[in-house]
Amino acid sequence: MLKLLILIIFPLNLLIANDYILQRQDSMQKFNKLMRSANQMIKNSEINEDLSQIYTDIENIMTEYPTLFPDDSFKGKTKASEDIIANRDKFNEISLETAEIARLASLASLNNDIELLQQSHQNLFSTCKSCHSRFKN
Ligand code: HEC
Repeated sequence: MLKLLILIIFPLNLLIANDYILQRQDSMQKFNKLMRSANQMIKNSEINEDLSQIYTDIENIMTEYPTLFPDDSFKGKTKASEDIIANRDKFNEISLETAEIARLASLASLNNDIELLQQSHQNLFSTCKSCHSRFKN
């Protein structure tokens, strides 16, 4: 009976871990696409509520992001560095900072504050490298 349970639970664990991996990769692909859309809109001077909503979507993605890295989700098809486990504070801090920058960009779009918008949009792009260089293999 115990053996049977282990046989069932072990693959289930792997499946759940794999689900986190797929979710966080999906989040990143969305983040990437949203940034491209924002780029395009800024280029076309479409500073409006839709642009603001794009940054709100990014804010929401990055607020949830740190919850997608449980300790047992670093095996298999993931590029996430195990450094995340040992440095959760730093990882959470970068995620939170990114969410805050996105919130600023969202407000800037609503207020038609072009200078703040461009600054925060640039800062959002800088977060990719600062997080990847440290926490992505
Ligand atoms: C807080 C940390 C963090 C930030 C900020 C961040 N990333 Fe990532 N990114 C990761 C990690 C960790 C992975 C690896 C996830 C995995 O494979 O499990 C990743 C993976 C990716 C992937 C590959 C997804 C896939 O399908 O495997 C893309 C694309 C990506 N990031 C784009 C971006 C872009 C563009 C930005 C900035 C605009 C960004 N990321 C900002 C941590 C971050």
